[in-house]
Amino acid sequence: MPHASPLAGKRILLILAGGIAVYKSLDLIRRLRERGAQVRPIMTEGAQAFVTPLAVGALAADKVFTELFSREDEQDVGHIRLARGCDLVLIAPATANLLAKMAQGLADDLASTVLLATDRPVLAAPAMNPHMWAHPATRRNVARMVEDGIRFVGPGRGEMAERGEAGEGRMVEVLEIVAAAEALVTGTAPSAPQPLKGRKAVVTSGPTHEPIDPVRYIANRSSGKQGHAIAAALARLGAEVTLVSGPVTIPDPAGVRVVHVEQARDMLAAVEAALPADLAVFVAAVADWRVADAAHGKIKKTPGEAPPPLQLTENPDILRTIGHHGQRPRLVVGFAAETDDLLANARLKLARKGADMIVANDVSPETGVMGGARNSVTLVTDAGAEAWPEMDKDEVAHRLAERLAKLLAE
Ligand code: CTP
Repeated sequence: MPHASPLAGKRILLILAGGIAVYKSLDLIRRLRERGAQVRPIMTEGAQAFVTPLAVGALAADKVFTELFSREDEQDVGHIRLARGCDLVLIAPATANLLAKMAQGLADDLASTVLLATDRPVLAAPAMNPHMWAHPATRRNVARMVEDGIRFVGPGRGEMAERGEAGEGRMVEVLEIVAAAEALVTGTAPSAPQPLKGRKAVVTSGPTHEPIDPVRYIANRSSGKQGHAIAAALARLGAEVTLVSGPVTIPDPAGVRVVHVEQARDMLAAVEAALPADLAVFVAAVADWRVADAAHGKIKKTPGEAPPPLQLTENPDILRTIGHHGQRPRLVVGFAAETDDLLANARLKLARKGADMIVANDVSPETGVMGGARNSVTLVTDAGAEAWPEMDKDEVAHRLAERLAKLLAE
């Protein structure tokens, strides 16, 4: 038996959700108690379909809580005291459903209510089918929870309970969960590394809208997903981020200062106002042209007359302006949305725009990149081209942020 575990005397509120991995939680209870921890279990309805409260209660040597509206339990302990009267909340297994509820702040059973009410550190050990773990909805929920300060251990890779299914999604081994809990209570848990702490970053994202008259505009299909994800990823690495966003329908990312603009000229002004900065990433799909003189009143159609000619004029190139700016950030990164000759065009843009890196992506309609959740990019620098496999835009953002942090540190 291990000596002097930091868990000795600690009160652990253990939430068991409904997955087959819950059988491992029986052993987890034993291991935690061996180390001197007190374990108070909460079981969701799903968890009780796999193991009985009797077994869990016997191993924990405590009452098992299952009901939100139990008159007896509420008088006795109450869900708020349950949520606060512990040193650590441990969720094992954490199912996709429970994670989704937590990410949204839902409270429709005892487990989710306690998770919303607690002010204690929370450690989650996810367990689910690899497809569920990889689903964009789960990716989004986990990213949100990391921002909310929830810690994760796992999931691991390997064979799933379902025959023939393998991949990331398995609950990690019990002793790994114990080690993560020990690290968390002693404060030695590696908090997310922040290599961009003290750095300033500017990111542009989304389309621009260039007015034709007060009711009509020229636009494009950019959703802002990739740019917003990059702003969020840079912030997670500690950067102080200004996101200059064109009109989008997605929410502002957490932890980022957002400046909302409509037109290219306003986007440039907002970027310049955010200088000096250490790095700038230009992801916006800026309209190359605007209508030379947008009408002040709505253009009317007169029967028998030709449609109005639209005289276009060039917009400022924001990336190129900043790439040659007196206050040029040390690292300037552009995107190249191409449908043909991806690499050749990206190399041309690298030189022409004064960028250190061009992230080239194929936006041919069949790729579904424009507006979609996934992206397949190639990083083009003076040193060469590096093609990345197709992945979620969030994952592209995360890896790109880490790469930029490394480049800045060099
Ligand atoms: N960009 C910008 N301002 C513009 C146009 C583009 O800042 N007025 C930036 C984009 O944010 C992106 C990069 O330049 O980082 C490449 O944009 P893209 O539209 O692919 O290149 P263009 O220069 O417009 O070239 P082309 O349309 O001929 O492909």
